[in-house]
Amino acid sequence: MLFWGLPWVLRLLPLVTANSYSGAQKTVAPSLSSWKALNSSVGGRLRTGVPLARPCFELADTAGATNQSECAAIRQGWSNSLFLVENFGAYMNTQWGSCQATSQSCLIHGINSSDPAPSDPPNICRQGSVPPYYIDVRDASDVQKALAFSKNTGIPLVVKNTGHDYLGRSSAPGALALWTHNLKAISYHAAFVPSGCPVSRAKPGVTMGAGVIINDAVAFAEQHNITLVLGAETSVGPSGGWVMGGGHGALANTQGLGADRVLEFKLVTPTGQLLVANECQHTDLFWALRGGGGGTFGVVLESTALAAPRLTLQVAFAAFSRNNTNATRGLYEVVAENSVSWAQQGFGGYIEPYQALYVTPTLNSTATAVTMKPLFDYVASLAPKDPGVQFFSVELPSYGAFHEAFLAGSGATVGENAAIASRLIPTANFANASSRATLVDALMETLAHVTFDLTLIATTPFNVPDDGTTSVTPAWRNSIWHAVAEGGWDGAAPRAQEKVAYSGISAAADFLRAITPGGGAYQNEADVHEPNHETSFWGPNYPRLLQIKKKYDPDNILTCWHCVGYNPADPRFACYI
Ligand SMILES: Cc1cc2nc3c(=O)[nH]c(=O)nc-3n(C[C@H](O)[C@H](O)[C@H](O)COP(=O)(O)OP(=O)(O)OC[C@H]3O[C@@H](n4cnc5c(N)ncnc54)[C@H](O)[C@@H]3O)c2cc1C
Ligand SMILES: *[C@@H]1O[C@H](CO)[C@@H](O)[C@H](O)[C@H]1NC(C)=O
Ligand SMILES: *[C@@H]1O[C@H](CO)[C@@H](O)[C@H](O)[C@H]1NC(C)=O
Ligand SMILES: *[C@@H]1O[C@H](CO)[C@@H](O)[C@H](O)[C@H]1NC(C)=O
Ligand SMILES: *[C@@H]1O[C@H](CO)[C@@H](O)[C@H](O)[C@H]1NC(C)=O
Ligand SMILES: *[C@@H]1O[C@H](CO)[C@@H](O)[C@H](O)[C@H]1NC(C)=O
Ligand SMILES: *[C@@H]1O[C@H](CO)[C@@H](O)[C@H](O)[C@H]1NC(C)=O
Ligand SMILES: *[C@@H]1O[C@H](CO)[C@@H](O)[C@H](O)[C@H]1NC(C)=O
Ligand SMILES: *[C@@H]1O[C@H](CO)[C@@H](O)[C@H](O)[C@H]1NC(C)=O
Repeated sequence: MLFWGLPWVLRLLPLVTANSYSGAQKTVAPSLSSWKALNSSVGGRLRTGVPLARPCFELADTAGATNQSECAAIRQGWSNSLFLVENFGAYMNTQWGSCQATSQSCLIHGINSSDPAPSDPPNICRQGSVPPYYIDVRDASDVQKALAFSKNTGIPLVVKNTGHDYLGRSSAPGALALWTHNLKAISYHAAFVPSGCPVSRAKPGVTMGAGVIINDAVAFAEQHNITLVLGAETSVGPSGGWVMGGGHGALANTQGLGADRVLEFKLVTPTGQLLVANECQHTDLFWALRGGGGGTFGVVLESTALAAPRLTLQVAFAAFSRNNTNATRGLYEVVAENSVSWAQQGFGGYIEPYQALYVTPTLNSTATAVTMKPLFDYVASLAPKDPGVQFFSVELPSYGAFHEAFLAGSGATVGENAAIASRLIPTANFANASSRATLVDALMETLAHVTFDLTLIATTPFNVPDDGTTSVTPAWRNSIWHAVAEGGWDGAAPRAQEKVAYSGISAAADFLRAITPGGGAYQNEADVHEPNHETSFWGPNYPRLLQIKKKYDPDNILTCWHCVGYNPADPRFACYI
């Protein structure tokens, strides 16, 4: 309990004002006794939020202590998302634990995590954007207590699940966080009836606590001989920000986005009501939660996703050496020429500048080999000069087998400062030889301006029409790719360089924006400074989303960067640059 008396606590709990639509509400910092009261009201599960690398630093103005054995484990796990996700004080893109506006951070070296220099004196570990307090959420009451505390004290709230968010929406300076990580329950219902719906609406469903991660969900689906649509990265939260923001995955083409497949959410609304939202009750909220974004309409405790039977999958893979950069343009040409047919044939996948991975549940192996022949012929033509060429197709018995073989080991880029910018690329850009040439030129220009990577993510819900039940931008439905450009910068770089990294990646995406007028972007994997973000993320759905936001959160208690109803003056955004 010594912690309560330490001076850093006082520095980190600034006088903040609660943001509201109707004007700022002046508040004073809560007293120690009110924090203690909050702690006992949540069963002693109020914790101090400590930046992950704290044990590696001798000097710090945060809670926590120097500890060599903990530091060794942190250095080892720094680039492993499955390690990071277990730690409240960790963020996948490390700048979101820092305060970029004041250059306060607590980072070790992103590329070489064994380098002791960044944590050696005189460097000091600083709190940055890591919330100084969090509640290890176990039930609705924890959330209700936090909402009431925030309303009474003005301490801003933030919801953190896995810390994957590319827009920094799961951290905030001086905030109280709700950590949903330990809501791990998962169950299968062969005939799930959404609460309040007639029994005739029963469908197979999997109910997942908000803290479930993709690897858990894949394993669970395998055990139950069923299929779930899930994202590629092992530790993204399929019942958290992923699904509320849209949720793409390799099977989304034929099965729909995560948001398409939700049968029900259980949540606490910003005014503290525990509700169930589905097609039979609170239907406006249900629609908003299916694509309107996380951290906005309430704190989700669990969601239920439609389960499909186990699917036999056909996979095609083609690659050449990464350094054979001369071959990239040809790869783009062959995928651009064939992508509309492949999308019609149910293929989803991931295209890097040196490889393409596709998967479909709708063709047989013979038809897959035939349709992928142009891709295979292209990489085969490189083989005489490039020993790294490989290509094959294979039948796999389930999505779990596909995830295990092609995704689980691929190693996401985490543990570094990184920024992305993206664009949905519509079918019109694939219409004829001249529009495809323009597209390939734009891809090459984009690629020339990224420092990490350009990924063409063929995971749009191409064969799942917009039936008006979700609030994602309709741009998803007629798109072939979600193209993501990514750049990074050194953790020790000065602030001016960080700004250059953001504007640079945004400029890279401008080549794609220029050829997709009126198009959109995926809010969960977007430019932090997305131009016209309301239209880009939600298209014509934005006005209704804003109405629903105001109805359920009149005081804007829950808010996040570029989320529905966001106010740039909110103290939660003080660290953005
Ligand atoms: C390496 C990497 C790979 C990725 N791969 C994919 C992919 O294959 N497909 C895809 O679609 N996306 C992918 N993403 C993007 C991912 O969907 C977003 O980062 C998403 O925001 C993650 O949600 P989360 O809950 O896991 O993360 P968090 O950062 O913890 O939360 C994200 C947002 O959701 C809110 N939130 C989380 N849980 C709740 C809750 N229970 N109630 C209310 N609000 C909540 C948070 O407040 C925050 O605003 C990837 C991201 C990374 C970094
Ligand atoms: C909250 O109470 C528990 C149990 O008494 C204690 O272990 C914990 O340290 C307290 N939290 C904070 C932030 O002091
Ligand atoms: C360092 O951390 C380890 C693991 O958490 C713990 O067992 C050990 O007691 C700590 N060492 C010191 C000196 O605090
Ligand atoms: C990483 O840092 C350590 C310690 O400074 C150094 O010995 C090692 O050579 C570095 N490795 C790389 C790949 O730079
Ligand atoms: C798994 O599901 C598939 C597809 O529905 C079915 O054909 C198969 O019999 C099931 N296997 C088991 C062991 O239940
Ligand atoms: C790529 O790297 C390999 C292995 O280092 C090398 O043999 C080859 O010449 C390189 N190819 C190109 C195109 O640079
Ligand atoms: C790549 O292309 C450039 C320009 O056409 C050419 O000069 C170079 O030799 C090529 N490199 C390889 C490895 O083919
Ligand atoms: C594979 O699918 C094609 C196209 O639908 C069909 O013509 C063919 O008969 C199928 N082959 C097998 C072995 O089922
Ligand atoms: C090619 O497609 C583009 C975009 O759909 C269209 O504007 C253009 O007129 C087409 N050109 C030809 C030659 O058909």
